[in-house]
Amino acid sequence: MLKVVRTRDYDDMSRKAANVISAQVILKPDSVLGLATGSTPLGIYRTLIGWYQKGDLDFAHVRSVNLDEYQGLPREHDQSYYYFMNENFFKHINIDPEQTHLPDGMNMDAEGECARYHQVVESMGGIDLQLLGIGNNGHIGFNEPAEDFAERVHCVELTESTIRANARFFASEADVPRYAYTMGIGEIMSAKRVLIVASGKAKAPILRDLIHGPVTPHVPASILKFHPDATLIADEDALSLV
Ligand code: GLP
Repeated sequence: MLKVVRTRDYDDMSRKAANVISAQVILKPDSVLGLATGSTPLGIYRTLIGWYQKGDLDFAHVRSVNLDEYQGLPREHDQSYYYFMNENFFKHINIDPEQTHLPDGMNMDAEGECARYHQVVESMGGIDLQLLGIGNNGHIGFNEPAEDFAERVHCVELTESTIRANARFFASEADVPRYAYTMGIGEIMSAKRVLIVASGKAKAPILRDLIHGPVTPHVPASILKFHPDATLIADEDALSLV
């Protein structure tokens, strides 16, 4: 069952999702957070940073694992997810950088990197709360629509639709990396709790398919309907076709 929380707008979505993450960290200060990139979670991170600065939140004992990373982008590239997480979240809070984890996009040995990152995820001893965005085609992390659900960390070839959607962040479409490392669906589904967020009219068709359609690897996020504790927090625009 996927619980659905409908919010007025992007800010309302961001605050509600930040409230859930904040409650998680307050109740379990050494939580393992599964974190996501993309434009949707930015408001959540901003809200959490604000609460941290007010002294309401403490990340000193939190550990984190991110979902994914482009292959071939160095950490200092402003579109690498390493850079994104530091700029938009980590450097503003008191999380121990040693306790934050992402796939190493510069490790071109795909097999080796997937095995290494799978071990990192395993070594966390379970993700307490996994935050997710959703791609226009239903991808979570970089689990693109496919014939099957991938269990573990793997290297994916990005679809044309994802490359086009992400081209806005690069100088040109040709600069968007073609491959990425991502946690698998099995690892995402192992999280104790999942929070998926969506905002804006562009996400309305995929949320309709997610909520009303079948569970299928062609809409990777649909598997969340089989998760025992998954919640979608989405605004009016994103839910306008539901
Ligand atoms: C990217 C990320 C996903 C993200 C999705 C949607 O490709 N790998 O983790 O959920 O796209 O991004 P946005 O929130 O910007 O719509």
